Amino acid sequence: MADSLEKLRSEALASIAEATSVEALDATRVELVGKKGRITQQLRALGQMAPEERKRLGAELNALKQTVDEELKNRRAELEQAREAERARQEVVDVTLPGRGRAPGARHPLSLTRERIEALFAQRGFEIVHGPEVEDDFHNFEALNVPPDHPARAMQDTFYLDGAKLLLRTHTSPVQIRTMTQRQPPIRIVAPGRVYRCDSDRTHSPMFHQLEGLYVAENVNLGQLRSELESFLKAFFETDLRLRFRPSYFPFTEPSAEVDIDGDSLGTGRGWMEVLGCGMVHPNVLSAAGVDSARYTGYAFGMGIERLAMLRYGVGDLRQFFTNDLRFLRQFV
Ligand code: PHE
Repeated sequence: MADSLEKLRSEALASIAEATSVEALDATRVELVGKKGRITQQLRALGQMAPEERKRLGAELNALKQTVDEELKNRRAELEQAREAERARQEVVDVTLPGRGRAPGARHPLSLTRERIEALFAQRGFEIVHGPEVEDDFHNFEALNVPPDHPARAMQDTFYLDGAKLLLRTHTSPVQIRTMTQRQPPIRIVAPGRVYRCDSDRTHSPMFHQLEGLYVAENVNLGQLRSELESFLKAFFETDLRLRFRPSYFPFTEPSAEVDIDGDSLGTGRGWMEVLGCGMVHPNVLSAAGVDSARYTGYAFGMGIERLAMLRYGVGDLRQFFTNDLRFLRQFV
């Protein structure tokens, strides 16, 4: 019996020492001193023993139980402390980590370019007006002196809507007509906005942006148009660039010109690049819009906003403006 008590003692103390978690220790406790535990059963067995035996063994068993209870308590405290320490280690907050922050949004390069152009014309006395993107044939073509058989009217250039009664404007020039039919000269406006053409490649998108300019008053002349555009372009590109007014043709202006910029003077070095169309408003256009063409003259111009943005920022592919790649867009702040 003494031998088995000694064995029980060493096994009990070993299993307490070996418990590596509070849960494992609980299981050990039940196994030793629970209702059916090994020590509990031994204590219960004392009842059947002779008084002598009971007295000796009882004292030893009670001493063992006390030791076991004590050891259980100590080991439990140790394990709980270790568990706390581990939790604290895992939950540690590194206050030196940089915050996640919020990525701020940025303006779209085309919005920045449009606003820049608008501001420069506002400084020059132009009012900013807007016209509808869904137009009719009268404003987009007829009143602009575009003949019925003009290629621009063909299906492959123009998006027609509603059985060809309406269309998506192919340029911002219809805003010239809408403005002149609503008020009399002097008129000095710019009209930015979206325009649409059936066209898509590296330098063409089916939707793009233009900015129209119109100045109608008494004695407006080509020299004024030229100096206004020159002043604007030099301010826009912030450099003393070389320009070329090249004779051209538009049905709604006479004479007409296209303005080319010398890429070398801009630092992009790609020879002459066309940036806008312009001319003196055709008398037929003034008349069609209800302006007295005997008394007033005017000039008009139209520029591509994408084209100006590409030259200013050195963007090679127009489609980059429309694919919404954040790596591209984040460069313009
Ligand atoms: N509307 C012309 C175009 O889209 C540009 C232009 C505007 C030309 C005004 C002359 C005068 O190409």
